[in-house]
Amino acid sequence: MTRPIPHSFVPDAQNGRLLRDAFGRFATGVTVVTAASDDGCAAMTANSFSSISMDPPLVMWAPARASSRFPMFAKAAHFAVHVLAADQADLAWTVARNRNALDEAGLVANPEGVPVLDRCLARFDCGLFAMHEAGDHMIVVGRVLRAQITEGEPLAFFGGQIAGIARG
Ligand SMILES: Cc1cc2nc3c(=O)[nH]c(=O)nc-3n(C[C@H](O)[C@H](O)[C@H](O)COP(=O)(O)O)c2cc1C
Repeated sequence: MTRPIPHSFVPDAQNGRLLRDAFGRFATGVTVVTAASDDGCAAMTANSFSSISMDPPLVMWAPARASSRFPMFAKAAHFAVHVLAADQADLAWTVARNRNALDEAGLVANPEGVPVLDRCLARFDCGLFAMHEAGDHMIVVGRVLRAQITEGEPLAFFGGQIAGIARG
């Protein structure tokens, strides 16, 4: 049930929490983005993923500049976006907490050399198409070179929580 919005606010340094909560009202899927780097497999849990264009096939995601992983992604000419399935919440949290959570040795590489997970709901192997500055984040646009899909239920992120979605 939706309730009336109690008050509006102008985002400023004092009400960052409120803005974060408002952003968190937008339910999204959950992805893990990977890229090859000199430091091994770069991996980040990201809910900023979105499909953009069919022709050419484009997707985007937005890494935070302040993340310790940002330099690895900023240099990557290729990356892979894994859309997580309902039973992959632990993986989402593990990758979010630990930048070295994915051991490159245990992962296969796609034809562009990007380490990829063996299981997910959908995977988009991308070449870097464009990067746009966007405040404390960067918008990374990828051209989809290859896509894979499997059957299954999705994982969702809402209000700071990750949970599977049951259809019906
Ligand atoms: C569900 C979820 C979604 C996230 N989405 C993003 C995102 O879109 N962009 C981003 O920069 N970080 C996102 N994060 C945070 C990163 O996964 C990661 O925790 C952060 O980059 C850690 O930074 P550090 O390596 O400096 O500790 C998300 C975390 C979670 C749990």
